[in-house]
Amino acid sequence: MAHFTQSPNPPAKKRSPITMIAIFCIGLIVIVGLAILITWLAIKPKKLQYSVDEGWIKDYNLTNSELTSTFNFVLRTYNPNHKTSVYYDKMEVTVYYRGQAVANDKVAPFYQPKQNVTRLMFQKATKNYNLPQGVVRDLKAERTGGEVDLDIKIKAKIRFKVGIWKSRHYKLKVLCSPVVVNFSNDKRFQNKDCEVDI
Ligand SMILES: *[C@@H]1O[C@H](CO)[C@@H](O)[C@H](O)[C@H]1NC(C)=O
Ligand SMILES: *[C@@H]1O[C@H](CO)[C@@H](O)[C@H](O)[C@H]1NC(C)=O
Ligand SMILES: *[C@@H]1O[C@H](CO)[C@@H](O)[C@H](O)[C@H]1NC(C)=O
Repeated sequence: MAHFTQSPNPPAKKRSPITMIAIFCIGLIVIVGLAILITWLAIKPKKLQYSVDEGWIKDYNLTNSELTSTFNFVLRTYNPNHKTSVYYDKMEVTVYYRGQAVANDKVAPFYQPKQNVTRLMFQKATKNYNLPQGVVRDLKAERTGGEVDLDIKIKAKIRFKVGIWKSRHYKLKVLCSPVVVNFSNDKRFQNKDCEVDI
């Protein structure tokens, strides 16, 4: 009466290759996952630090809304990581006044070892650069006041290195705002810590 046909139990030996593959796959996933986690932990912990240590303006001349000036900054970058070094493959520094770019320069690629401080000299002359009327008015007022509030933005393409492993490219964005510069080449520059975003 019973219509169930009992299929014979497959011999244990036939299952084992599949089980082995399953165990192998799970093992592989766990190992890869752990490797990613360890790498991530090694890279993630501490952010790169940036500050502007010195800043001064030379040859300032604003005539008929045309700006001629040399902007000088000493940018300081610190890599606080014990295991991770950094390749800077591209870097661009732009100086803004009230949202208006007034100086821009590229920095040659460099390598930053672990726990290293690197100072970058920025010096860029702007010649007969035409500014909008509103910006001219504000800048003239600041000149009279003796100091100017500038913003410095840094954009970079970086790679991390842990041991022999090198990461993909990351975009680094740095904002230093406001950077207060005295027109009279005063050396009492108030250094400014920057916001860093990766
Ligand atoms: C400032 O620039 C104007 C126009 O370019 C020029 O005529 C003048 O001589 C400059 N002044 C100084 C002090 O360099
Ligand atoms: C940081 O690294 C640069 C480039 O390798 C090196 O020239 C400089 O001396 C290092 N600075 C410190 C404080 O170790
Ligand atoms: C800029 O520096 C000069 C010379 O040291 C100083 O007399 C002046 O007070 C400074 N200006 C401002 C706005 O701090």
